[in-house]
Amino acid sequence: MEQSPDPRLIAMLAWYRDMGVTDVLTDEPIDWLVRGESVLALPEPPLLEKQAPAYEDSDFGFDLPPARPTFPSGGGTAVSVRNFAPPPTSEAENSARALAEQAQSLEQLRAALQQFDGCALRSTAKNLCFFRGAPKARLMVIGEAPGREEDLEGKPFVGRAGKLLDRMLAAIGLSEEVVHITNIVYWRPPGNRTPTPQEALVCRPFLMRQIELVAPDFLLLLGAAAARQMLGVTDGILRIRGKWYEVEVRGRSISAIPTLHPAYLLRTPAAKKAAWRDLLSLRARLEGSVPSDAPGPASA
Ligand code: URA
Repeated sequence: MEQSPDPRLIAMLAWYRDMGVTDVLTDEPIDWLVRGESVLALPEPPLLEKQAPAYEDSDFGFDLPPARPTFPSGGGTAVSVRNFAPPPTSEAENSARALAEQAQSLEQLRAALQQFDGCALRSTAKNLCFFRGAPKARLMVIGEAPGREEDLEGKPFVGRAGKLLDRMLAAIGLSEEVVHITNIVYWRPPGNRTPTPQEALVCRPFLMRQIELVAPDFLLLLGAAAARQMLGVTDGILRIRGKWYEVEVRGRSISAIPTLHPAYLLRTPAAKKAAWRDLLSLRARLEGSVPSDAPGPASA
């Protein structure tokens, strides 16, 4: 006869779930505070996966404007993990900076990221998610972090939020043919949590070099984490969205507009109206119909 599970076990699992634990990595607990060399045998795929947020599978929710011209652009096996706990931030940052600086092309930057082991997210992610879209682009879209689908495919914004992002871009006549799409961190945070400031900081030299190599005129910042990382502002996204900022990356000034993250729009369809206004503002700038008079200076 089948025994029903111990209710204490069920209660414990429910508690883990409520605390946001979504991935089971090993049979034994790990003391994450211990630093140094370690080799971990990771089990088969995570036992628990966070459910993707429910969303309305509709289109972007607006009448699309007439088509616009596009803009020329410009597991299972044992895993050996070296130095599993990341070195202190400054060391990891220095190593990130040195690697990023050497990269003379996006492909070299990808190779540098593959070599880089200073970001703890790498240990739990399946794949590096570098970018998708055009290598050189007038518009660079920066999101928060890869999710489950992105981790599986190794590309940013390929899941539900990404599909909505594509429809948002299409609504102003853009596509990945002419837009460069990336995130502030290059590996999926476990359970889709927001990346920590340290994780974002350690990826930052790569992001800065990426921006330099893509050489965009405009940045579309999706959500609070991307806005915080690029603009240094701590105000909520609902306060800062739709405002233009100037970001200086290596002596080059780039106009940046924060807007609502597509994942938020999926959960809050009523907010699409505000995002639409931001996209129209972006389109106006891309078409050169608005002078570039950014209100808030921000250095990156
Ligand atoms: N959300 C993000 O911020 N980035 C992705 O790549 C996917 C979802």
